[in-house]
Amino acid sequence: TVASTEQKTRDQVVETLVEGLSKLEYRGYDSTGIGIDCEHEFDDKSPVKAIQLIRQVGKNHVGIAHTRWATHGGVTQSNCHPQPSDPKNEFIVVHNGIITNYRELKTFLRTKGYTFNSDTDTEIIAKLFKYYYERDTDVELYQLAKEVLYQLQGSYGLMVKSVCYPNEVVATRKGSPLLIGVKSEQRLKVGFVDVEFINEQEPDLQNFEAVPSSSNLASSSRVKFDLRKSESRTILPDFNKPIEFFISSDASSVVEHTKKVLFLEDDDIAHIDAGELHIHRARKSAGMSTTRPVQTLEMQLAEIMRGGYDHFMMKEIFEQPDSTYNTMRGRIDFKNKTVKLGGIRDYLTSIRRSRRLKMIACGTSYHSCLAARSLFEELTGVPVSVDLASDFLDRSPPIFRDDTIIFVSQSGETADSMQCLKYCRAAGALTVGVVNSVGSSISRDTDCGVHINAGPEIGVASTKAYTSQYIALVMIPLQISNHVVTTADRQREIIQGLSEIPKMIEKVLKQCEYIKDISEKYLHGRDSMLIVGRGYQFASALEGALKIKEISYIHAGGIQAGELKHGVLALVDENLPIVAFATQGSFSPKVNSALQQITAREGHPIIICTEGDKIIDRSSASAMIEVPQTIDCLHGLINIVPLQMMGYYLSISAGNNPDRPRNLAKSVTVE
Ligand code: F6R
Repeated sequence: TVASTEQKTRDQVVETLVEGLSKLEYRGYDSTGIGIDCEHEFDDKSPVKAIQLIRQVGKNHVGIAHTRWATHGGVTQSNCHPQPSDPKNEFIVVHNGIITNYRELKTFLRTKGYTFNSDTDTEIIAKLFKYYYERDTDVELYQLAKEVLYQLQGSYGLMVKSVCYPNEVVATRKGSPLLIGVKSEQRLKVGFVDVEFINEQEPDLQNFEAVPSSSNLASSSRVKFDLRKSESRTILPDFNKPIEFFISSDASSVVEHTKKVLFLEDDDIAHIDAGELHIHRARKSAGMSTTRPVQTLEMQLAEIMRGGYDHFMMKEIFEQPDSTYNTMRGRIDFKNKTVKLGGIRDYLTSIRRSRRLKMIACGTSYHSCLAARSLFEELTGVPVSVDLASDFLDRSPPIFRDDTIIFVSQSGETADSMQCLKYCRAAGALTVGVVNSVGSSISRDTDCGVHINAGPEIGVASTKAYTSQYIALVMIPLQISNHVVTTADRQREIIQGLSEIPKMIEKVLKQCEYIKDISEKYLHGRDSMLIVGRGYQFASALEGALKIKEISYIHAGGIQAGELKHGVLALVDENLPIVAFATQGSFSPKVNSALQQITAREGHPIIICTEGDKIIDRSSASAMIEVPQTIDCLHGLINIVPLQMMGYYLSISAGNNPDRPRNLAKSVTVE
């Protein structure tokens, strides 16, 4: 959303919205839509085709736009956002998240004569606005929003504008991120927006089935954050000094306009009206903070551009020598072989006293947890378990106050992981975030944590975040156990190994043409393949298989080498493509035996081995990819790079766009 009091034309506002959308495409790119001032039109498929609407309405302009990742309803024009309340578009809504009680609300609205044109859950929000507005047309837009929010269950980051409220917009969130960028020639005098509660009162939170049509605004709570009433007057209108607001789910679309942002919290209702920003509360929450700090983003626009690469994914693969180094920079003293993680320093005693350590994540981030698990166990001596966030939620397992739970997430916004975080916090566990996106929900809501500092990752397939997460998850047990004398040598060995990782990755990257050839010759056009590894390389096998599946659309199974004989071996013949991790380490003899099981069935694996390896029988291999030797627990950092490249080249040779795999979004803010 852009709200502007500058002397900008509507065209310029539309342009800003379209540019913002293209920065947010990684959040979803099924379809896009835009609405500005009192009109809106839709465009499906491509944000660059957004239609510019020209009509002057006073000197303020408000536009909202959305790029969609379909959850409810297919990719059709009628399912695009903004969703309208009626054919005249009286209220229009853009929405991230899922309204879980949308069926009940739809049923209710149907009984009131509303008809529906889309399959989205969002359409009910637009219609609820109209429904409440028609009951009381004097109500302010934010109060109307409050009334609607009482009825919604689920998660949302949403924005609403209306012809009934020209040049106003409301934005609100629950479980889905939203931030406001402020661009102003006025000096922002203080770093905080103070807030004020008025008439605190618990609102009626029942849904329509329980209260068909009786709720009315007079009885609702008026918990109000009013910036104008605050002592610290931060964002005030001054019509000689234009002000622009940029509301977005992600800083990447805002950073080129302003670096001053404030993050909304769950149940905040931001209301922009005539160049003023007010933040109200939808409901009272215990322990609510009463300030919204105006922060300065560190992110540089150049960091999120593609450089000379054809795709973000390749750029990010090639950034890994730098990104892995940046994860360690300022934290590891390579000379004295020590690790200092400022973000968890104050919590070390509690972490060391934990009865259990648990890591929770999804997808690639889950694989980074698997990659580091045995080192955690080895160095800390504490039982460590790793859970997929969605599975954890399904099981709702017991969590205790003396548990430490580590949440690993690139975006810091993944809804499944966020739900687990809420659950673990409620159980009193100590929570630690391992996150890339600074200021994201997970980094804010955990007790302490480590930013992986990989820089913005735009490609939907995670690459540099994986290697940086892995390194962060190696540094954490090193820090936890830095007082343990019995493992001191092992710790020094690992720190030495870490210092060499960026250069080793650089060496693997030099083989990109060779890996491209191998991918095209042995893997392109195949229906299915196996990626085999064990020990530390089991995580590499799972992550390598995920990379191939998600961007090349070829089925790839990540297999624990020890499991071959328990069933999967039945698939092996001279035709099945297999990639096997066989770098030297403590499991080498067992890996060699798995290779023999494969070659004895006429299999011709592509083998990833240590440079100059003399042990492996190369005669039956389709190809060998040699990588530098590091220590066992770090080898996954090197070994994953050829698989990232294979995924990329297979995607290209299949004619896909690796940055935009079908059906996927970068930041999965729905459960
Ligand atoms: C795959 C990929 C996803 C994410 C997963 C979790 O390449 O990127 O599997 O790892 O959606 O996302 P974050 O790490 O943002 O929580």
